[in-house]
Amino acid sequence: MPYKLGEVILSREVIAQRVKELAGEIARDADKDKGLVVVGILTGAAFFLTDLVRELPEYLDVRVDFMSVASYGDSTKTSGVVRIFHDLKSSIEGKNVIVVEDIVDSGLTLSHLLGLLENRNPASLKVCVLLDKYERRQTEVKVDYCGFRIEDKFVVGYGLDCAGMWRHLKDIKYVIEE
Ligand code: IMP
Repeated sequence: MPYKLGEVILSREVIAQRVKELAGEIARDADKDKGLVVVGILTGAAFFLTDLVRELPEYLDVRVDFMSVASYGDSTKTSGVVRIFHDLKSSIEGKNVIVVEDIVDSGLTLSHLLGLLENRNPASLKVCVLLDKYERRQTEVKVDYCGFRIEDKFVVGYGLDCAGMWRHLKDIKYVIEE
């Protein structure tokens, strides 16, 4: 295997604390009468989303839906043009929507996806990402809630993978190329 696990960048305790804080911010901003549709982008964000929504208060009407997308391009570069593999089960028209993503890198995938969702006329469309590799941004993308800003190094765990591996790790770790 050409890769091995490096040191922990974010421990499970640090992640759990930040997830609680993010849920607090989301709940504070939410319209209590309208509720929220939380849209997770499969597969990576599923881990983060399930922890995040369980920190939201009971009084909020929270619905969960998932989308699976892939961006066209070669293995190293995303073109940002996304193809939908699995679409939302319910309409988001007139709803307050929060898209939950594991990491925003170039921003191309998320920005294209937001364009697609905007066309479905939600009442509002916000973005919550666990990790932001801000140095790599190629297009502006509005991030409303961000867990951690990290430097430009490949990371795995807590849903993030490297060639399909290591999503199941509880901590987020660096990957070392051998
Ligand atoms: P982009 O913002 O369009 O460049 O693509 C973001 C996607 O790249 C994320 O959803 C991840 O699948 C992947 N990605 C970027 N950086 C990392 C990383 O450090 N670890 C794991 N996946 C990453």
